[in-house]
Amino acid sequence: MLIIDNLVAGYGKVKVLHGISIMVPEGKVVALIGSNGAGKTTTLRALSGMLKPESGSITLGGKDIAGLTSHEITRMGLAHSPEGRRVFSTLPVMDNLLLGAFPRLTGSRHKGDVDGDINRMFELFPRLKERRTQLAGTLSGGEQQMLAMARALMLNPEVLLLDEPSMGLSPRLVEEIFVIIERLKKANMTMLLVEQFAAAALEVSDFGYVMENGHIRTSGEARALKNDPAVQAAYLGGH
Ligand SMILES: Nc1ncnc2c1ncn2[C@@H]1O[C@H](COP(=O)(O)OP(=O)(O)O)[C@@H](O)[C@H]1O
Ligand SMILES: [Mg+2]
Repeated sequence: MLIIDNLVAGYGKVKVLHGISIMVPEGKVVALIGSNGAGKTTTLRALSGMLKPESGSITLGGKDIAGLTSHEITRMGLAHSPEGRRVFSTLPVMDNLLLGAFPRLTGSRHKGDVDGDINRMFELFPRLKERRTQLAGTLSGGEQQMLAMARALMLNPEVLLLDEPSMGLSPRLVEEIFVIIERLKKANMTMLLVEQFAAAALEVSDFGYVMENGHIRTSGEARALKNDPAVQAAYLGGH
């Protein structure tokens, strides 16, 4: 469970998040939607420690993680699949996956069954299995996105942050990514999902939050948001 309370963050003097509150209950999927520049990526960066929050609290499993380093936060079980599929392009697929499990391999996080989890990733993302010895930089955009997700999952996280997993992908791959999110949800993964395809994101989510200019404008059950005329008009293309 992840609880964000009155979070303020930005870049230097530029405030981007003006006191946002979001709750991601255990085993639920929460969609964070909003226009370009609303502050969605900044939110995920503040959660994972890539950006130091100015004020507010971020509680993961009962502990306040606001202000901790990204390494400390990762160790506590918050995994972040960042915008723009950042993979280690000069390393093979397999090494990228093992790096995702680094805190488990070095004893700073419960080890569990790392080999079994690699196999589970190959089941979930069969393309990665075929390409496991290939350098990550030689993968297609869609495959790199899958690798970024799989690497984050290799932490065996308590909560997974996904930033625009479908960005730049073909319609067929977008569909594949949503099927995978659906499968993770069935496996009880707790997720905060940032997506440009707001309708599809609300479809797989339990709850949704709509962000505008660094504020949460509205929130609620995903189904209710999908049927909200104001949300439809602004974010769902009027459908
Ligand atoms: N590194 C940065 N330095 C300064 N401003 C930034 C930086 N990254 C993003 N911003 C600004 O923060 C605001 C929110 O951006 P972002 O969180 O990326 O929005 P979203 O992910 O919702 O599209 C925008 O106005 C953007 O210009
Ligand atoms: Mg973004």
